[in-house]
Amino acid sequence: MKNYKYMKKAFIFDLDGVIVDTAKYHYLAWKKLANQLGFEFTKEQNELFKGVSRKRCLEILLDIAKIEATQEDFNRWMIEKNVDYLKFIENMDASEILADVPRVLQFLKDHKIPIGLGSASKNAKPILEKVGLLSYFDAIVDGNNVTKAKPDPEVFLLAANHLGVKAQDCVVFEDAVAGIEAANAANMTSIGIGDANVLSKAQFNFTDFTEISTDFMNDLI
Ligand code: BG6
Ligand code: MG
Repeated sequence: MKNYKYMKKAFIFDLDGVIVDTAKYHYLAWKKLANQLGFEFTKEQNELFKGVSRKRCLEILLDIAKIEATQEDFNRWMIEKNVDYLKFIENMDASEILADVPRVLQFLKDHKIPIGLGSASKNAKPILEKVGLLSYFDAIVDGNNVTKAKPDPEVFLLAANHLGVKAQDCVVFEDAVAGIEAANAANMTSIGIGDANVLSKAQFNFTDFTEISTDFMNDLI
């Protein structure tokens, strides 16, 4: 039997693609900018943007288009993309929460397990507020708090620190390759949400939260 007395675990969730399907809105906003700059931006290319900071996304976009931008242009396009993204997410509500996420969050709350957010997005908090999940989180670490982007483990290590739990006792839910790499680098348990072939470096894989059973959660805590 497990000795629960000395066990203290924490769970850290990525936001985009794990809690809410905002990847489609990021895509639409980047596509608008790409079209305005005279080129196409495909859904396949958008895969490269998952878990990646806004700045890095624009660098990749300009690389794809072979556009050399001045610092001024670069800064302006970053702002334009975000203004468009904010318009897309303006009316988000609880209906955009991905299936069974509230069930898993509630399970953790019921078991008094600390819950953290580890996201690259600078828009994380307003999104959690809009969909009504903010109160579940004991710590939020997002693009405003980190200096190094995923796959660097900084975002998750900072979240573990805020939650007061050792890195090796944290479990991370991630939908991005860079995010799984970050969780592994942080020495945390990594759970891939999405395509298992893409997220092959994850310790556990699920298509979505509907596949995560109470038995599995009980084994983790
Ligand atoms: C990540 C997304 O969560 O946040 C990326 O997966 C996005 O696609 C990044 O670029 C930064 O988000 P934001 O909201 O700060 O532009
Ligand atoms: Mg993500």
